[in-house]
Amino acid sequence: MAEVFEGAVDRGLEGIVACTTKISFIVDATLNYRGYTIEDLAAHSTFEETIFLLWNDRLPKKDELEKFKRALGAEMALDPAFVKVLKEIPTKGVHPMAWLRTAVSAMALWDKEAQDSSQEANERKAIRLTAKMGSLVTAFERIRTGKDIIAPNPSKSLAWNFFYTLTGQEPDAEMVRMFDVCLILHADHELNCSAFAMRVTASSLSDIYSAAVSAISALKGPLHGGANEQVMVMLKDIGTMDRARTWVKEALENKQKVMGFGHRVYKNGDPRAKILRQMSEQLTKKIGQPHWYEMSALIDDTMQGEKGLLPNVDFYSATVYYSMGIPIDLFTPIFAASRVSGWIAHAFEQWTNNRIYRPRGKWAGREGLTWVPAEKR
Ligand code: ACO
Repeated sequence: MAEVFEGAVDRGLEGIVACTTKISFIVDATLNYRGYTIEDLAAHSTFEETIFLLWNDRLPKKDELEKFKRALGAEMALDPAFVKVLKEIPTKGVHPMAWLRTAVSAMALWDKEAQDSSQEANERKAIRLTAKMGSLVTAFERIRTGKDIIAPNPSKSLAWNFFYTLTGQEPDAEMVRMFDVCLILHADHELNCSAFAMRVTASSLSDIYSAAVSAISALKGPLHGGANEQVMVMLKDIGTMDRARTWVKEALENKQKVMGFGHRVYKNGDPRAKILRQMSEQLTKKIGQPHWYEMSALIDDTMQGEKGLLPNVDFYSATVYYSMGIPIDLFTPIFAASRVSGWIAHAFEQWTNNRIYRPRGKWAGREGLTWVPAEKR
């Protein structure tokens, strides 16, 4: 007789507290990183400073921040031998998240410290992986469009270099700042699906690259990071304002999920969506296409009225990235380029007090069967 577990199975682990964490938490309907609200960080911080905060549990002093930025800058470029391999792997018909998953996995093979699990080596790998993630995303775009890869400028920020290595042109300062805020907003979010995947892999004492590959794979799904891309696909599919309300109603009648709405934890609204909504309004106006924001706002309104569901981080980030001229299927890889900082903070936290994750499953299968040869079945 199999062991019987009393009580209901917690599908989705909604009510399970799997670890203690000091990285990020939802307090009074807002998200905190290490005790600072994201509103505060979005208004005053930079992505680099936020990464330092996530990894070190404190804001850096001025000289520490400069040193940290130099360390990231020095690691942004991709090894030419690795780039040669990247040019050989398929891009046609390949989703950028699938490519990114493979690229990060392959990148580990060029890192001589990949198997070194000392704290010092892990810190160096953390910098390397975080600095290179954006470069990988833009490399994918350059390779698939038959263009040469552009070397990053190590004296500039990760946000600036994202646009520079994507287009080869100096980006607009206001757009860079807004993108930097997007990177801050996406950096961490407590025990979300990909952070949990990172921690699960890290808990077996596997290496940081392997854990990041688990996390990228989890983020890829449309119920998690993949939703931002799907939002823009939906908006394009709807096409015009007059179709928006009916489209949403029909989707709900057909029990279809509307991407970018709902959240496991926030039931009264995602604080990141509020900041992104303002940005979406501003940016869509700036590029002379305010209808994308207006259509989004109408869908938002309809979803609240019909289903009581509010937008999550993915909803308005879609029109923000679209207005920045970023290809739609790069939206989720951008999420990864930011969230890698949070994933790494989770791996470090996991390793400070590690116990391998190994939950149980409540048996619901048959028992007591006896094997019989194939010809007698
Ligand atoms: N559209 C329509 N109905 C929805 C939506 C949605 N976006 N989200 C939830 N619902 C409905 C469900 O159908 C369900 O209704 P029911 O009780 O009538 O069956 C109810 O709301 C509860 O939804 P669940 O899916 O059980 O909620 P859960 O906490 O498991 O999932 C999730 C949360 C995955 C975010 C869900 O809301 C969803 O699928 N949203 C769309 C995808 C999305 O935007 N993902 C990004 C999330 S943010 C992030 O990961 C970065």
